[in-house]
Amino acid sequence: MIFSRVVGTGACLPGAPISNDDLVARGIETSDEWMIGRTGIRFRHYADAGVTTSQLAAKAGREALDAAGLTPADIDLLIVATTTPDMIFPSTACLVQSALGVPAGVPAFDVQAVCSGFVYALTIADKFIRSGSHKRAMVIGAETLSNILNWEDRSTCVLFGDGAGAMILAADDQPGVLATAVHADGTQTNILSANARFSGGKGIGSPLVSMDGQAVFKLAVRALEEVALEVLEIAGLSAKDLGWFIPHQANSRIIQAVAKRLDVEMDRVVVTVDRHGNTSAASVPMAMNAAIRDGRIRRGQNVLLQGVGGGFTWGAVLLRY
Ligand code: ACO
Repeated sequence: MIFSRVVGTGACLPGAPISNDDLVARGIETSDEWMIGRTGIRFRHYADAGVTTSQLAAKAGREALDAAGLTPADIDLLIVATTTPDMIFPSTACLVQSALGVPAGVPAFDVQAVCSGFVYALTIADKFIRSGSHKRAMVIGAETLSNILNWEDRSTCVLFGDGAGAMILAADDQPGVLATAVHADGTQTNILSANARFSGGKGIGSPLVSMDGQAVFKLAVRALEEVALEVLEIAGLSAKDLGWFIPHQANSRIIQAVAKRLDVEMDRVVVTVDRHGNTSAASVPMAMNAAIRDGRIRRGQNVLLQGVGGGFTWGAVLLRY
């Protein structure tokens, strides 16, 4: 039987950390106390003007290749999850393919599922590998959300940051990915969107993030609990069997609420939202990479990854590292 296994991870965080006090100094009416109490966020990073999502993605991808001891020529599938692509087309994945020197002919495409994008992309890559058609996939979540933040809206602009995380999945006769589940509810498009579109060659609507925070909060907690139980059941495991839980890093109160519902102690939860803010599709691979590199996640442990975000979309990947 063919499984897909994680053989390398990498990340890229642009620029210096920006503190809550730095945001206050930039004229945003917030405070360190409000931010920490309501969101758990202390820092986020912003890419410099002109630095694109594909550039961050390529750096993360290169680091993941190094960790796996592979070269670009070894990759036969490239997927980038992003909601802030460099351009309408070509896809960010094609730009990364060119930047890294992943061979021509290898399929490369983007996945757009906002904050669930990486979990969607990992699910797709796992299915390609299990089918036997592909052997080594590079899966990246990358964002430059700072380009689409409304700096006049303190309830959203303070929450998000830029970054990229990458994972290499390789075919193996041992698991690997144990279970995946992805979902969407298109009736909830209005609670979280950046609704600009093109008409007659011109942009109309607003490209900036707009959000009903409380509605997102409630839906996120319920969706994350349900999809965690779903993948655990598929794999025949319970929350007690988890070595590590890596939920989407949007808000520490959402993370704590889901961990409590699943009865997972916080010392088994990877939390990076305090240092990175919400980096959308990049949040889960960056958190996994951080916990692998600092030695928390070890080979043989069960790890539950989860995404939730605009669409509304949500999903989970349960894997044995
Ligand atoms: N600094 C200080 N005060 C603020 C700020 C800020 N940055 N933003 C809002 N406030 C004020 C509001 O104006 C309001 O003041 P008022 O009571 O005088 O009217 C007060 O804080 C409370 O506002 P609420 O919106 O009710 O605050 P809430 O407790 O819901 O927290 C938050 C807001 C943090 C956005 C929360 O709803 C949340 O985390 N929702 C989840 C959304 C999320 O994480 N989205 C990320 C994208 S989707 C995803 O990744 C899952």
